[in-house]
Amino acid sequence: MKDDNFLKENNARHLWHPMGAPSDSQTHAPKIIKTAAGVTITDIENHSVVDAVGGLWCVNLGYSNDIIKDAIAKQLYDLPYYSAFAGTSNPMAIEASYAVREFFAKDGMARVFFTSGGSDSVETALRIARQYHKLRSEPERTKFISLKKGYHGTHFGGASVNGNIRFRTNYEPLMPGCFHLPSPYPYRNPFNETDPLKLAQNIAAAFEDEIAFQGPSTIAAFIMEPIQGAGGVIVPDASFMSLMRDICNRHGILMISDEVITGFGRTGEWSGARLWGVRPDIMTLAKGITSGYFPVGAAMFSDMVAEVFESDNSEAHGIFHGYTYSAHPVGAAAVVATLSETLRLDARSNAEARGTQLYQGALELAKKYDIIGDVRGGHGLMTGIELVANKAAKTPMDGATMQRVHQAAYEAGTMVRLGGNNILMSPPLTISETEVNTILSALSTGFAAA
Ligand SMILES: Cc1ncc(COP(=O)(O)O)c(C=O)c1O
Repeated sequence: MKDDNFLKENNARHLWHPMGAPSDSQTHAPKIIKTAAGVTITDIENHSVVDAVGGLWCVNLGYSNDIIKDAIAKQLYDLPYYSAFAGTSNPMAIEASYAVREFFAKDGMARVFFTSGGSDSVETALRIARQYHKLRSEPERTKFISLKKGYHGTHFGGASVNGNIRFRTNYEPLMPGCFHLPSPYPYRNPFNETDPLKLAQNIAAAFEDEIAFQGPSTIAAFIMEPIQGAGGVIVPDASFMSLMRDICNRHGILMISDEVITGFGRTGEWSGARLWGVRPDIMTLAKGITSGYFPVGAAMFSDMVAEVFESDNSEAHGIFHGYTYSAHPVGAAAVVATLSETLRLDARSNAEARGTQLYQGALELAKKYDIIGDVRGGHGLMTGIELVANKAAKTPMDGATMQRVHQAAYEAGTMVRLGGNNILMSPPLTISETEVNTILSALSTGFAAA
């Protein structure tokens, strides 16, 4: 590796970073994270902090899982790559498909299609949803409904069902036939409804209304995150997802549960849908599927969907969609090892206990700092803190103050992620009680610096 001077000199010079302005990265050099161990990351200045971001909601098992690393290394020597396009397979792909199916059997998932990440998984889910209806002789079912504030990745399909202006405007026009319902976000919503249950019922009514307006037989699928992540950790009422499930059932609309963040224990359950007692038709996965160690995603399908595709081997039933790296042997080896480790470590239970600690701690901070407008979480290791300049008016905090809080918290011992005026936290599910306390005390220092 080149020396530190070279790295600093060339930082952001040649690399366009996702989700930011290139010129901003050039003037405000990104932190260079050089090493990591456990749940701690260390930058080029040798400053170590607890990673409350978990890489990017993905390093579920921390940075030091040698079992996953060894599995990846071994596979690189056994078979570094071979195509899994129809006609060839590889041992790890077969093993990984078995492991993922077992993992989500309780959610009713029967088949898996591997991808290279979450956006690919969402793209796969949307396409398969349309094809499913075509195969069932309902070719006019092409539309998608989703939630505002939802994040479903950056392909044109995913961006079209995304519910956040930031990811849409620069890339419009997006895909036609995509419609959005209000987010189950009690702090801000068009109904001015602070009761989560009533808000859930209002959105369900809006869903029925939209279906009637569009025509039920034109809608292919409804996609939602069980807990909205990037949109600000928005936790719906416990009734919300099943209300939406019932409506989908009544109108023959497929339900896609986007579990890219919520899968693999992050919510304190093995899937977000299971947390809410719902069985979706399709699930999208990524991130925790390899603990972020190798880029892999997956779309999963219920028996009902599988049956339609498997009933015939005609051209129409072919899945003419896929990625060079679908079922990549090294990725598949990472999946097998990660799933086994996720279960062995019972990551779900620690996520639940430490998530409660983080959420309760954030609620305590809200009593102390008036800039905290809303604290969201309480289901595993997903916590959001929304900062406001004026609590009564709920005026979103300005970007410069958000940056100041971020930097002060970093200097005091934790890396958090900013999403607009939200602080987003999703640390590794293996985090300890002491490390959660470090996050909370560093955040306190950050808020004091606002
Ligand atoms: C719910 C959800 N879906 C899809 C994606 C896209 O995943 P990726 O960034 O791996 O393409 C993300 C990424 O954060 C996500 O949170």
